[in-house]
Amino acid sequence: MTERRIKRIFENSPDDIGAILLYNGSEPHQDVNFFYVTGLAKGLFENSAAVIYPDGSGIIITSKLEEESARKSRLDMETFSTKREFRDAMKKALDVDGRIGINFEDIPHTSYRKFKYIAKGRKFTDVSEPLEKTRMIKDREEIERIKKAGKIAAEGLKAMAGSLCEGMAEYEAAAILIYEMMKRGATGPAFETISSFGENSAEPHYTSGGRKLRRGDFALFDFGARYDRYNSDITRTFIMGKADRKQREIYEIVREAQEAGIDAIREGVSGPDVDAVAREIIEKAGYGDMFIHSLGHGLGLKVHDGGGLSPRMKMELKENMVLTVEPGIYIPGFGGVRIEDDILVRKNGAEILTEFPKEMMEL
Ligand code: GLY
Ligand code: MN
Ligand code: MN
Repeated sequence: MTERRIKRIFENSPDDIGAILLYNGSEPHQDVNFFYVTGLAKGLFENSAAVIYPDGSGIIITSKLEEESARKSRLDMETFSTKREFRDAMKKALDVDGRIGINFEDIPHTSYRKFKYIAKGRKFTDVSEPLEKTRMIKDREEIERIKKAGKIAAEGLKAMAGSLCEGMAEYEAAAILIYEMMKRGATGPAFETISSFGENSAEPHYTSGGRKLRRGDFALFDFGARYDRYNSDITRTFIMGKADRKQREIYEIVREAQEAGIDAIREGVSGPDVDAVAREIIEKAGYGDMFIHSLGHGLGLKVHDGGGLSPRMKMELKENMVLTVEPGIYIPGFGGVRIEDDILVRKNGAEILTEFPKEMMEL
């Protein structure tokens, strides 16, 4: 699997690249591409590198501390105990003909300068776009992991929804969600859980706080599970008690837009066209200026994993891409509704990876 991934990266890169260096620094400077090419699901691998070659081979250069964890990769390995050993191993690994590709997106400037010094005289070039392009099409193992992350999130939400009650704080509901996901095998949340009640649901990237759930509130949850480094990302909006007319109206518009967006997905259609299908429904209902983000984004090792469904992102959908579909309407001071699912692009349609009912749920 990793050999195929590495070959695809080089197929998407300029011809004169002799090696690609992927450096995984320490938190928060990590590079998911290190894990993509090594296939390693567990382990920290701080300050470790993977150097990959056009024939599909590669070497992991990591500290002794990670030796056991690194054995789970098919790639060769060299361990170091001192900085000098690290430098020598890197110098040897980078001794190739051609330019050296590097991921400018995720490498700290100080580390880049260090590698320029280690591989003195060699030309470095940015390969962040080929890396992102390669990762947009998922292979079997990746799809299995994202499916599992989606299933865990949906089941976690089901369990949490049963314990939601008036007086519960946003952060309390978020904690239960994370607990329910980890109980089902998640290594953790995919990102900071958004749990927003009442008027707070009008902020798409709200940070959960102490607001308590009251009758008549929207309760919006946007969260995901991480499983073997792969993420899911789902949103559901509930009503505490009975929905009023306006709440019901915007909920149904968002639901219709989301279902139409998913129905429009298949191999060969363009991202802007799918976005337009959903956006037009919200615009025609008179809420166009309250749908303030794009319809969706790529999902995988990163929560925002390259590509998306947006009027501004020209891209053609291909089989085995994984995307979110997440329209929303946000009314400041009143509240908001978003419904989000993760889907796998198939030749003739979309396969939903986050199975959870979409009918309005009055708790
Ligand atoms: N949770 C961020 C997003 O849905 O993109
Ligand atoms: Mn989300
Ligand atoms: Mn999302």
